[in-house]
Amino acid sequence: MSSHALPAVVDPAVYIIHDNPEWIGPFTEALDRLGVAHVEWLLPETTIDLTAEPPQGLFWSRLSASAHTRTDPHVKEYGRAILDWLAAAERRIINGRGVYELEVSKIRQHRELAARGFEVPRTAAAFGAEALTEAAAAFTPPFITKHNQGGKGLGVRRFDSHAELAAATEEFALGGANAPIDGITLIQEYVQPAQPFITRAEFIGGRFHFAVRVDVSGGSFELCPADACEIPRAGATGTGPFPVSQFSLRPEITRHTPLIGRLESLMADLGIEIAGIEFIETADGRQVVYDINTNTNYNPTVEAAEREAGRQPAVDRIASMLATRLDEVTALVPSAAAVR
Ligand SMILES: Nc1ncnc2c1ncn2[C@@H]1O[C@H](COP(=O)(O)OP(=O)(O)O)[C@@H](O)[C@H]1O
Ligand SMILES: [Mg+2]
Repeated sequence: MSSHALPAVVDPAVYIIHDNPEWIGPFTEALDRLGVAHVEWLLPETTIDLTAEPPQGLFWSRLSASAHTRTDPHVKEYGRAILDWLAAAERRIINGRGVYELEVSKIRQHRELAARGFEVPRTAAAFGAEALTEAAAAFTPPFITKHNQGGKGLGVRRFDSHAELAAATEEFALGGANAPIDGITLIQEYVQPAQPFITRAEFIGGRFHFAVRVDVSGGSFELCPADACEIPRAGATGTGPFPVSQFSLRPEITRHTPLIGRLESLMADLGIEIAGIEFIETADGRQVVYDINTNTNYNPTVEAAEREAGRQPAVDRIASMLATRLDEVTALVPSAAAVR
């Protein structure tokens, strides 16, 4: 076996397909707490034998849209190939092949949301940097740019005039400081939040888990909720057991909130089992949905507060969901059943 071959175990296990070791610890620890066998498949630098059968188990895609910023530019293709191989062998995948296409395309996200009648920001796509100013011509400033294949705020900038964008287009060109990996930059209506926060609703196993309020008063568009991305706020002095955070629970958003029910239906339609979906509430009462993330790094401050309050943190809910799904898979694997 080559050193790049994907690791496999004999008994069915949870295979986590991902591209960033820094994000996986909380999940593997939660699986360990439940005694669930798990194996990591880290992209890139792997090989697959196309004539071989994938191992038996439950496959969970944690592939992210921003992998190219950490590894190599082609990681999206590796992810597609692995998920295709698993799907062809009829393996059970959490957030599988179609979901990955949604993760890596904000155009696709926008289309799926708009088609179901969600409020979405007016959006145009520019293919290549030269088309950017033309795409923006019909937008009244302020408007924002963002990469089609985004995540962690890639390419997200606010422009207060067309001239400002014209001066910046070079940055979005091939080789520029702000070049989108797939060549596509979106121009989007700037949605003014009524209060300076956005909301990220988390869903696990297709069901609402909690909604997190993310303070955007600092003006930052980089809203990765993971510990690694949490920027200490100037002058913040925590009073409770947890430091003051940009992230906090929004307990008034529940599974009975109409928008949440509609998002659960969208997820069921699209086969998304785990997602963090972001929206902005406007002064005129609209809830504008603009980002579907099919992998979340749950914010550690919120997770710790949930545990302290006697509720199940998101990582634990993920682990128990995976354990249940793995049991379902195992029951269908004849050889595994015979072993038991
Ligand atoms: N249309 C918009 N109007 C106002 N703010 C926006 C808009 N789109 C994005 N933002 C802000 O930028 C952040 C990052 O944009 P988002 O579309 O979520 O990209 P990413 O996938 O990189 O997270 C959002 O969380 C939000 O704070
Ligand atoms: Mg986002």
